[in-house]
Amino acid sequence: MTKPTLILGIETSCDETAAAVVARDGEGRGEILSNVVLSQLKEHAPYGGVVPEIAARAHVEHLDRLVAQAMAESGTEYKNLSGIAATAGPGLLGGVIVGLTMAKAIAFAHGKPLVAVNHLEGHALTARLLQAVEFPYLLLLISGGHTQFQLVGGVGKYHRLGTTIDDALGEAFDKVAKLLGLGYPGGPQVEALARRGNASRFAFPRPLKGRKDCNFSFSGLKTAVRETVQDLGALSGQDVADVCASFEAAVAETMADRLKMAVHLFRAAHSAVEHPAFIVAGGVAANQKLKAVFEAAAAQHGLQLIVPPAKLCTDNAAMIAWAGAERLALGLTDPLDFAARARWPLDQVQAPVYGSGKLGAKA
Ligand code: KG4
Ligand code: ZN
Repeated sequence: MTKPTLILGIETSCDETAAAVVARDGEGRGEILSNVVLSQLKEHAPYGGVVPEIAARAHVEHLDRLVAQAMAESGTEYKNLSGIAATAGPGLLGGVIVGLTMAKAIAFAHGKPLVAVNHLEGHALTARLLQAVEFPYLLLLISGGHTQFQLVGGVGKYHRLGTTIDDALGEAFDKVAKLLGLGYPGGPQVEALARRGNASRFAFPRPLKGRKDCNFSFSGLKTAVRETVQDLGALSGQDVADVCASFEAAVAETMADRLKMAVHLFRAAHSAVEHPAFIVAGGVAANQKLKAVFEAAAAQHGLQLIVPPAKLCTDNAAMIAWAGAERLALGLTDPLDFAARARWPLDQVQAPVYGSGKLGAKA
């Protein structure tokens, strides 16, 4: 049996400062020993979005304490760790440097290997921390910064099926909220107001519907909302609710259509996999209307829908520690001079040698 892996993970790529300790046993089962997250929402709220400089300073201020807390809560000591994992990108460079530098210092001081984790790989592998999920599977990542379908063929083995050509989905929710004078982050408020709105009052566009790929575009939809809001002038409470409901309906119909295409592309690559897992991650996965769309699509297309619990869907360090553990179990580590990256597409991460063949095929 392979030795269990015990990993400290650090996440600082956006507006959450987070540290966690996660264990992975020889059979690949995961356990979260500690998972602490400090959200900077209050610091950024007055600006209606994340301010990179404020984020980096807040990470510097809080990270030491959070790492100490994660270690203490896990009941383990540095000498027992198998390695240190930190988000090395993509994200806001100042913040990424703070977390990665801290991880390098701990790794150096305690003579442990460093694993430089791609933040998106953290989201992509989270489901395997919670339950046994076989490769290959389909991932939909919908957050404030990302909107993409990935075909997950194995650790380090990703193929992007589609992405947004302009705004991310969470960003679209946030911008619509801002247009309506709602606070940041806007997603939860738009969802709450949509519940008492009329979804068919405004005929907003369904961007890229029917297109033979599975990309996304939300900027035209946002513009349509802006024009409607301008035409309405002074907004009543009912107007706001109706705009939210109509916007959410447009998003839901668009997601259903884009998902149909993604499943088609997945099936074309992996016709032998009967009931692949379909994992939805990122902050927008908390939206109940979209969840209903995913459930219906999963039933229709024979997918096993997995939506990790909200605190593992939004940014956290347990997912980074877990991705580190999965990589370490395959012998993948990184040098201490690994540089932080603002941009780092998931299909460009270092991959283990899987042998030849189709993506996701057994070696
Ligand atoms: O993954 P996440 O916590 O952070 C990053 O983007 O890194 O995602 C945050 C995004 C925000 O844009 C927020 O408005 C959106 O997720 N969001 C939602 C909901 N909850 C959070 N969007 C729609 N419906 C929700 N219930
Ligand atoms: Zn994220």
